[in-house]
Amino acid sequence: MNASSDLRYMTGFGNEFATEAVPGALPVGQNSPQRVAHGLYAEQLSGSAFTAPRGHNRRSWLYRIRPAVMHGSFAPFVQTALHNDFGDGPVTPDQLRWDPLPLPATPTDFVEGLYTVAGNGGPAAQQGVAIHLYAADRDMAGRFFYDADGELMLVPQLGRLRIATEMGVLEVEPQQIAVVPRGVRFRVELPDGPSRGYVLENFGAPLRLPELGPIGANGLANPRDFETPMAAYEDVEGAFELVAKFQGHLWRADIGHSPLDVVAWHGNYVPYRYDLRRFNTIGSISFDHPDPSIFTVLTGPSDTSGTANVDFAIFPPRWLVAQHTFRPPWFHRNVASEFMGLVHGAYDAKAEGFVPGGASLHNCMSGHGPDAATFDKASSADLSKPDVVAGTMAFMFETRAVIRPTAQALDAAHRQRDYQACWAGLRRNFQPS
Ligand SMILES: [Fe+2]
Repeated sequence: MNASSDLRYMTGFGNEFATEAVPGALPVGQNSPQRVAHGLYAEQLSGSAFTAPRGHNRRSWLYRIRPAVMHGSFAPFVQTALHNDFGDGPVTPDQLRWDPLPLPATPTDFVEGLYTVAGNGGPAAQQGVAIHLYAADRDMAGRFFYDADGELMLVPQLGRLRIATEMGVLEVEPQQIAVVPRGVRFRVELPDGPSRGYVLENFGAPLRLPELGPIGANGLANPRDFETPMAAYEDVEGAFELVAKFQGHLWRADIGHSPLDVVAWHGNYVPYRYDLRRFNTIGSISFDHPDPSIFTVLTGPSDTSGTANVDFAIFPPRWLVAQHTFRPPWFHRNVASEFMGLVHGAYDAKAEGFVPGGASLHNCMSGHGPDAATFDKASSADLSKPDVVAGTMAFMFETRAVIRPTAQALDAAHRQRDYQACWAGLRRNFQPS
């Protein structure tokens, strides 16, 4: 094995990067010379239509020991709790909440430990999302994975992830995220052993930074804080397995070498990581608080302008200074559908029950908001002083289409069947005179 051990990153979002683990491996002035230096193969990996507008065109050129076509025939992989079957029957408008997914009782790697909670759309239509959890306790060993159906955002909640990809190695810890583009092959190792987190599988257009409008040139997630690995390759042969997610199902093929054998690459179709603690939170300094779109880290656009296939928003530590204002997130209903998770700490709209590793789902036009305990506390809070929301990191996957919970998530022992009770204590305070 010949792998780089010192991890180095390049910064920026959507940049045209160029990196080589062996000097001289990258061709100069062209993509596909007759003979690539060092006996490498040239291969293009395109994540957008060839003819996508320049600003949204994503592709990378990989210079590798063997081309990606070299593997055995695919056969069905053991079906796990990962799927894209969101059903087409009735879907409950109930507010739903879950405790954390239990850690595995038997040795389980990242692929084996994926568990689908909910979703909409699908890979055939190239729109919608799947929302998965993972709970795993061992490294992927001799196994590599890629998802042809969508890009993957990994949101670790417990334990770090070491994600060895074709383009280099990403290390992420809770309160960081990693995004692996559609089709990029990777292996997940668990440096801390038992690990758990959330996964967004985005079937639609790749995630990008939101427009900033009147906010200006800086703020929210800044491009320079996104980190892409430098080239690092494995030159190793063995009896390995390549697992593919293709049209909602897992497949496996034998592969006689590590597919993470890209010695050099250039392009803008890249994996990246982002530290959520670097998010520059912007909010009201007078009264009321803005719509939660102000917390958008990344957005996956749909074909309708201003209406995302999926937005990824976070609720990080911040000061609340608004005067004569109910400071927690308000009661509301909206056309979008909201899946929330909690990476760290406590969430300011709920007194209890929403715990790190847990999740909630508030679908289109289903009312939600602070629980009774939070309402009472905030209604009598002293607004002459700022509040600080500290030690927290909640997030939301918000989608245009209704998020349909899977049968296994509805039936799960870790679903909180008494969730609505958290609002039962909201008293009638009306006094007409
Ligand atoms: Fe909401």
